[in-house]
Amino acid sequence: MQSSSPLIISNQQEIHPNLDAVVMKHLTHPNQKPIAAHTREAFDRLDQIVKSTSRPVVLDSCCGVGESTTQISKLHPEALVIGLDKSAHRLAKGHAAGDFLFERVDLNDCWRLIADAHWPVTHHYLLYPNPWPKSKHLQRRWYAAPVFQALLSIGGKLHIRTNWRIYIEEFARALTLAGYQTQVDAFISERAWTPFERKYQQNGHELWQLDCNFKKKTLKDCHKQSLTSLELTLDD
Ligand SMILES: C[S@@+](CC[C@H](N)C(=O)[O-])C[C@H]1O[C@@H](n2cnc3c(N)ncnc32)[C@H](O)[C@@H]1O
Repeated sequence: MQSSSPLIISNQQEIHPNLDAVVMKHLTHPNQKPIAAHTREAFDRLDQIVKSTSRPVVLDSCCGVGESTTQISKLHPEALVIGLDKSAHRLAKGHAAGDFLFERVDLNDCWRLIADAHWPVTHHYLLYPNPWPKSKHLQRRWYAAPVFQALLSIGGKLHIRTNWRIYIEEFARALTLAGYQTQVDAFISERAWTPFERKYQQNGHELWQLDCNFKKKTLKDCHKQSLTSLELTLDD
């Protein structure tokens, strides 16, 4: 990817004023969105494979062309590594072959199915998700979307990278509201894992990473946790 990439342009210069309220709403209300048929079919294919092996699972969500999936499978040779993306076009461009799987899914649905199926996920990578930097698009960001609760329930160690500082700060805040500790650091990659990482580094962007090591929780536990956090927030 050779094109120049301007720094993120946003009308938001700090954490969104509605972030806490939106996150708490999604943590305390069940996600009613119907599951799309194509994602359920893709999930069922994967579920059969996951259930037929004793290997732990590592997810590469928003894998794009899947370059990161190759890196991740080298890092976790013991695991069944699965790259997930909604773009058939990007997945088709992925030329990598190796010990991993790709499926085209909408993660708004697939994360819920994975959480409900209790896959043994040890690591979950989310590298350069769309930041949706316009203030009015807050609820399109993963931590401010109804599916956030399912992302927590999947468990494992979450690894996020972005080139927008506010995105990582908001993600950390949302995880704190849900009761988790996070580690946020500026990040320099010696060798780009993804096309977007390469593009951002070539254009001199600062990169950020967040790690969160959370225990696997059920959706029910999340509800309980959220209510506790809500009480704490109201008491503050
Ligand atoms: C900015 S690109 C980053 C791709 C890759 N991780 C990289 O760094 O090169 C974001 C990716 O998220 C995917 N994506 C966005 N929304 C999604 C959704 N609801 N379900 C699955 N994938 C999604 C897009 O198709 C795109 O490939």
